[in-house]
Amino acid sequence: MLHAHKLCKQVSTTSGPLDILQQVDLTLQRGDSLAITGTSGSGKSTLLGLLAGLDAPSSGHVLLNNHNLSDMNEEGRARVRAQHVGFVFQSFQLLPGLSALENVMMPLELHGVADAEQKASQFLQRVGLADRQQHYPRQLSGGEQQRVAIARAFASEPDILFADEPTGNLDTATGAKVIELLFELNREQDTTLVLVTHEQRLAELCAQQIRIEGGRVVDAPPAAQSSDQSLDNSTAQSQLQNNAEATQS
Ligand SMILES: Nc1ncnc2c1ncn2[C@@H]1O[C@H](COP(=O)(O)OP(=O)(O)OP(=O)(O)O)[C@@H](O)[C@H]1O
Ligand SMILES: [Mg+2]
Repeated sequence: MLHAHKLCKQVSTTSGPLDILQQVDLTLQRGDSLAITGTSGSGKSTLLGLLAGLDAPSSGHVLLNNHNLSDMNEEGRARVRAQHVGFVFQSFQLLPGLSALENVMMPLELHGVADAEQKASQFLQRVGLADRQQHYPRQLSGGEQQRVAIARAFASEPDILFADEPTGNLDTATGAKVIELLFELNREQDTTLVLVTHEQRLAELCAQQIRIEGGRVVDAPPAAQSSDQSLDNSTAQSQLQNNAEATQS
């Protein structure tokens, strides 16, 4: 469902062209989960943006549900994103003039979902923000804004969810809840997950892992192990749940 072939991204800087991503290949099937790790500045967000069709590669191509994103302009990619993709940005990107509830409702309304408000409200409850629905982003902490962004990405029940450090601003217990929600979607709706994370516990829950250094993949995904590892997911998740409960009590 997601296939990247020789993806490269070059940007121009004052000191000349800079290769920030080089020759990345990867393939994911529906329901797979992939963790992308690597040091700061290694190219993780750049890769995520290319895979999700937010940005176009300098060379190489991306196939997402049989749509060749590389052949499309921004308008075409936006259509594919609206149909298939959920994205949680590292910087959240909530609309400041809309309440938490309205931020989550917005993509649902664009999709013409009838009970957008009810659905948005349910997803805010699932990320622990039942009592903050009417608050504006500026009234919310970083972690709370992150959870609104997660609820917004989840609410449209995408085929593939990209999340850039989805637990980066969350405490252990809240992070565990969000991770649980991610893998619930993965299990119940066969949502493909592509996660950038610095957290080993989250990376290990994913069936595949890659590490990026200097714009290149340095560890290939252990594809052969993917089915074994997903069997372990439920065990790892119940451990997380226990951790979360222990932290709360
Ligand atoms: N438009 C741009 N122009 C110049 N350099 C860029 C541009 N976009 C990204 N970079 C550089 O490319 C590198 C990779 O950036 P990217 O945001 O993908 O890193 P990252 O792995 O997500 O880092 P972090 O963990 O800090 O979020 C960085 O060195 C960044 O400064
Ligand atoms: Mg980043």
